[in-house]
Amino acid sequence: MAGSDCGGTDSVANGKSRFDDIYNSPDPRAYFGRLAPLEYEIPHHAQPVFRQTAAERAALDDGRPHRSAVLDVCCSYGINAALLNHHITLAELYERYTSPARQTMSTAELAAQDKEFYTERRRPDAVPVFGLDIAAPAVHYALEVGLLDAAFTDDLEQGPPSPRLRRALAEVGLITLTGGGSYITDRTFTALLDCARRPVWVSAFVLRTVSYHPVVRALVTHGLCTTLDITRTYPQRRFTDERERQYAIAAVRALGGDPAGREENGRFHSLRYESRPNTP
Ligand SMILES: C[S@@+](CC[C@H](N)C(=O)[O-])C[C@H]1O[C@@H](n2cnc3c(N)ncnc32)[C@H](O)[C@@H]1O
Repeated sequence: MAGSDCGGTDSVANGKSRFDDIYNSPDPRAYFGRLAPLEYEIPHHAQPVFRQTAAERAALDDGRPHRSAVLDVCCSYGINAALLNHHITLAELYERYTSPARQTMSTAELAAQDKEFYTERRRPDAVPVFGLDIAAPAVHYALEVGLLDAAFTDDLEQGPPSPRLRRALAEVGLITLTGGGSYITDRTFTALLDCARRPVWVSAFVLRTVSYHPVVRALVTHGLCTTLDITRTYPQRRFTDERERQYAIAAVRALGGDPAGREENGRFHSLRYESRPNTP
């Protein structure tokens, strides 16, 4: 697998920095604390897109007895679920989890406060969100504070879905992804879509350093057609250092992209892919 979509300090995988420790903390403070200086911002760009797409997908369920769920893959601490279903911005989440007053709290104290915080900000049009991430402490936190309706830690790169995840996938109508495009491959998407029982759409923000084509091909075999918004790219985060900048420039060029004005200027950029059934 290619490596981290977020950033890193010490270790490096295929030229990209990574620091897995912040994915597996008991609460989101380390995650936001480490990513703040790198200005990790892709969930902010995805927020209006996922909200609009979720609303359009939900309209398909009109008249059906049960609403379909969103499955956020590589969901970590439930950040996309927080932004989708609450009156909240990514900037507010950074402020919250890096505030000096919250650094001395226990995880239990923070979770109790977060539960109240998200309940107060819950949107009336909130949709059910399931989360999938191999980082068990992160998804458990998201579940505990009410951001996720169900959480799964299956690694679909390594094996098939558990019976519990299979059952949940029958309810899923939209799969979302930010920051995970270099971790998961067509293997994960194939495993997910093999278990689908409703029309499933996919909305994904993927780094320009990674090819999404194998996933697009897997989606085609499940009847999904993918469109790429070529009008713009979405800044993801600053590079950790010059070595990482050089890696990204080379990786983008190798995939036929032009890093001028984007990666050359010091940040990873993502592309937006939307996949929907060929027939409604
Ligand atoms: C960069 S974080 C993205 C978190 C969140 N989506 C965001 O944008 O803030 C990448 C996440 O992918 C998760 N991950 C890595 N390998 C995975 C796999 N095989 N299946 C599911 N999640 C995985 C990591 O645990 C981590 O939480």
